[in-house]
Order: sequence, then structure tokens, then C-alpha cells
Amino acid sequence: MAGRVVLAYSGGLDTSVAVHWMGAELGLEVIAVAVDVGQEGDFESIRQRALAAGAVEAVVVDAKDEFASDFIVPTLAANALYEGRYPLVSSLSRPVIVRHLVTEARRHGASAVAHGCTGKGNDQVRFEVGTRALAPDLEIVAPVRVWGMTREETIGYAEKHDLPITISRDRIYSIDENLWGKAIECGILEDPWEAPPEDVFSLTVPTATAPLEFVIGFEAGVPVSLDGTRIGLVDLIAQVGALAGSTGFGRVDMVEGRRVGIKSREVYECPAALALIAAHADLEGLTLERDLAHEKLRLEPRFAELAYDGMWFSPLREALSAFMASTQRHVTGEVRLRCSPGGGLEVVGRRSPEGLYDYGLATYDAADSFRHEDAEGFVRVFGLGVQTWAAKQGIGRASIPGGGSE
Ligand code: ARG
Repeated sequence: MAGRVVLAYSGGLDTSVAVHWMGAELGLEVIAVAVDVGQEGDFESIRQRALAAGAVEAVVVDAKDEFASDFIVPTLAANALYEGRYPLVSSLSRPVIVRHLVTEARRHGASAVAHGCTGKGNDQVRFEVGTRALAPDLEIVAPVRVWGMTREETIGYAEKHDLPITISRDRIYSIDENLWGKAIECGILEDPWEAPPEDVFSLTVPTATAPLEFVIGFEAGVPVSLDGTRIGLVDLIAQVGALAGSTGFGRVDMVEGRRVGIKSREVYECPAALALIAAHADLEGLTLERDLAHEKLRLEPRFAELAYDGMWFSPLREALSAFMASTQRHVTGEVRLRCSPGGGLEVVGRRSPEGLYDYGLATYDAADSFRHEDAEGFVRVFGLGVQTWAAKQGIGRASIPGGGSE
């Protein structure tokens, strides 16, 4: 296999070895692409590391704004939580990275795209299905899946070829991070019974000693302000994460079902994602008509599953997003969140110029404008089918302990 390959490069051990290995073993020229989706890191030094490992070209792409607007916004619109808990952190960054791999592949005349994922995870699925959806003609190379080296052997390979790698103590964990949160795997966490050691956490270290309250403003489902000040989405996500995280809020510790059939123990820190989803879902309670809200709730888990499964670029995910987008037109207003030391988060207030809450209808006070006389007929007709069933088939009596009265 000759030619050029574009590699999703993180700067870590595996992708650094992959740069060298694909050159040496497959005769490929490697273009390394590092995509900034809001993770920690010095991208210039990552770029230099790729070149030192043998890449013919190394590109850094700042995709934070695009990640927020094209991936986080639709995901927030769907309040998407995989298996009811995981806000899809890594699942969301893969498709935006894929987009840039394909762009760079075209720009550099590459015929293949490569990633550093193992054969046991979800990320390989996301990279490959995503690439095939956007560029069915591109080949896929997955060096880590085929080279058969243990971690020790990979380190040995790097040392032997003088590759600039940084192996630090905290590398016992496999960490993936972006604007939407952080995933932590491996090490002691592989025993699902062991509590996560405090030192795995960085975004949810409790420092606040008193409850914090803040207000998030939304326009058509998109968070646009914090405590009344308009701020760009990327900064808003970071600031909400810092606030909520400072009380210890945002941890998820779960055993999750991977797409490849493996159950794995995952620890996440997602203060921004979980706070924004809580606020957004609450505002929908105020602004979405009942049937619409209920149907949306049924579709949200499906959206999460598709994103998790690497089906971001698929007709069903796109159709669900079109539905979600059409529900967001009136999701405008403000939500008051309270985070308490110890990690609790509550929604304590919400308001909207487009809210469906009608005080006159809801109140039991004198201001009551509800037409009470309509209720009796409504309830009678609503229950007519059940009443007929009970009368004709006698089920009503059978289901009451001791029998119903006749
Ligand atoms: N289990 C999560 C997911 O599939 C996190 C994956 C994190 N990736 C990593 N290389 N640590 O989305």
C-alpha cells in the first residue's frame, strides 16, 4: 500500500508510534491531523511531535466553534444521554474529527484515513463509519488494531526509533477530553467494584464551600447567556463547566454497553453537559406543548444511541435532528440552577416569554380563569371507554380486593 494517509493524531504514544509504523511497515506518507475540540494540550508541541515521529505534514485544526455549533447544539436539543446517563462526550468529537480528516485527505491527495483506536472500543466504529459516510472512496488504516504490540512493546518501539513520547504517571488512565467533558478509563477503574480514586478527577474537584446559583439563557434551544451576559457558546460551556464542577457536580460512574458487545466501566466528568442538559430539558417543560414534549422524550434515547454507535452521519440521525430542531423554535428563556457543595444540582426557577405556563389556568387563587364547568363533561367522555369496558366485562370488580360494589 503506497501513497498518503491522513492520521487522526493526538500526540500520545499510540498515534506517535502509528506515524512511524505506517511509514516503515506500509510505506505510507503520513499527514498528521490534530483537532482541537477543547481538550487540554499544547498544539504546537503536538504538531512538532508528529513531525519528529516522521509525518510529512502535521496540521492543527481549531474545531471548537464548529464542534459546539454543529455537534453539541443538536445533541443538547435532544437532551441526549446514552443509557440515560452518558452525555456522549467522545461519541461527539469523532464525527467532527472525521470531517477534518476527510478535508485534509482531499487537500493532500491522500487515499486513506487512519486512527489510533483499538479493536475493542467504540471509537474505531465512529471513525470508520463516519469516514465511509463522508468519503466512501477512502481506505481505512487502523494500525493499533493490526500491529499486535502490547503497551510495553509499543513503548519499546518508540524508544527504539527515538520517537518523542511523554509517558507520565497519569498515563495509567486512558483519557479523552473535549468541551463536553472527559472520559477516564483503564487502570484500577477496570474493576467495576473499586471506587474511582479521587486523583482521576480534574473537572469536578469540589472547591466551593457554599451553594452556587447561576442563570442560563437560551434562545431557540441554544444557550446564549450566563447570568444575563451574552457569551459565545464555547466560552459559555467552559464557564458553566467550571461553575458546576467547582461543587463536585458532573461525575458519572457507570458500566456501559459498548457497540462492540463489551461491557465496560466508564468514569466521566461532564459538569457543563449535565448542567446544560438539566437546564435545557427544564425549559422545554415550560415551552413545549404536551404531545410534542412526550414524543420528543421517546426519540431522545434513539438519538443518543445513534450518536454513540457512530451513526452521526446517517439519514436517521439527520432526520431525528430535523425533528429536534423543529421543536426548539420556542425554547427561549432563562433557567436558574443551584449547585450545592457535594455535587447536587437543582433547577430552582425558569421563565420564558414564550412559556405555555398560564397563571390564570394553573392557579387555585381568585385569579383562576379555568372553566371548571367544562371539566365534568371532559372527564366523563375521556373515561367513557373504560367505563363501558368495566360495565360490560366486569374487570372493575375483579381488580378491587374483595370485589367491587354492584
Ligand atoms: N466509552 C466512551 C465512549 O465510547 C468513552 C471512550 C473514550 N475513549 C478513550 N479513548 N478513552 O464514548
